Amino acid sequence: MNTPSFLQNEAIRNLQLLEEANLRRQQRLVTPLSNGRCLVNGRELYDFSSNDYLGFSQHPEVISAAVRAIQEYGVGSRASMLVSGWSPVHQLLKERICELEQTESALLFSSGYAACQGSISAIIDENDIVFCERNNHACLVDGCRLSNAKFRVYRSERLEILERELMKNASFPKRWIVTETVFGMDATIAPMDELIELAEKYDAYIICDEAHASGVYGSRGAGIISRFYDDFTIPPDIVERRVPIRIGTLSKAFGSQGGFVAGSPELIELLWNRAKTAMFSTALSIPACAAAARAIQLLMEDTKNLPEKLRNRAALFRSHLMEDKFYVFGEPDNPIIPVLVEDPKLVIKMADDLKRAGFLVAAIRPPTVPRGTSRLRISLNANFSIDDLELLRTAMNKARDGKNAK
Ligand SMILES: Cc1ncc(COP(=O)(O)O)c(C=O)c1O
Repeated sequence: MNTPSFLQNEAIRNLQLLEEANLRRQQRLVTPLSNGRCLVNGRELYDFSSNDYLGFSQHPEVISAAVRAIQEYGVGSRASMLVSGWSPVHQLLKERICELEQTESALLFSSGYAACQGSISAIIDENDIVFCERNNHACLVDGCRLSNAKFRVYRSERLEILERELMKNASFPKRWIVTETVFGMDATIAPMDELIELAEKYDAYIICDEAHASGVYGSRGAGIISRFYDDFTIPPDIVERRVPIRIGTLSKAFGSQGGFVAGSPELIELLWNRAKTAMFSTALSIPACAAAARAIQLLMEDTKNLPEKLRNRAALFRSHLMEDKFYVFGEPDNPIIPVLVEDPKLVIKMADDLKRAGFLVAAIRPPTVPRGTSRLRISLNANFSIDDLELLRTAMNKARDGKNAK
């Protein structure tokens, strides 16, 4: 291919800059295997890097649901949902999501990214003001920016500042607060109860992304907001009023692909007509829908309480790493376990050492996280045994002491 020289030179120069800052990313070929393992360069590794928290991506019933759907309807959805891409499998998935989220309606998107970006930019009006949490995922930030509303960043740890801003900006037609319920990089939970109280006091509305909470928190694994409907710590009518929509992804705990927005039929119909990432994109693929629908059903019928098992394992493992004097942060029982390393070069070295010892762990560096906070991001899968976790613990200690290195 004949790339124009200015573009080629620009690419080379920028790649060099990334290399010098230890921020150049490499593509890696990973073959997923069952039981939380994977193959990298022909070696079998424990995969502690995926978001497949409940192991559904490899669940035999999830796989056979996808295969059956392909045999019946084919692979691709062939058109956008508004044209002819909405099939019986899409309808089934929508119904499952409504059951899980306890909402009357839901809309599907081709990814969680598309769900966040498309729904937020469609709902928030350019005359409104939006408060976006500092650590929000890029797709939430994009959605807020694309709305053209006045944009402000707030921090969950400094809600008194958010409160002052809400007070000061009472004249905007609407005030929106946009947040992840579980922050995917820090593994912390947003202060949803305080946010709902602020929203009620200052007449604001919350849009939340449950990407890392679905399948992990809530009595049916329905996420952080569902906990309010379970324990009534805030009256349900207030929660409903202040958190009118919930966004989720099907590509993490549900082991498939795609995103959704759950809400009232009217709000969802408006999104059908306004969310560009749904209107002008081919509908979610048939196997992705069927797999996600089966995974949600398995979660709702789950008698072994997989989410609780996952959280218990996470709490135990986190406490062991802390005993070993690793700087671990986040919610005690969150399956994402960030271990602070600070230096981007060192985090790559530790991840390489862990790989040599048989463990795939993500090394996270800026710009994904702020400078000076490079980290190993260990992500648990409910199928890992306590013995598996002990093996990783030993390897972590050796990696820190440079003993896994050849
Ligand atoms: C908080 C959050 N929201 C949305 C997404 C995007 O979801 P998807 O991977 O389904 O596009 C991610 C993905 O990493 C995420 O962490």
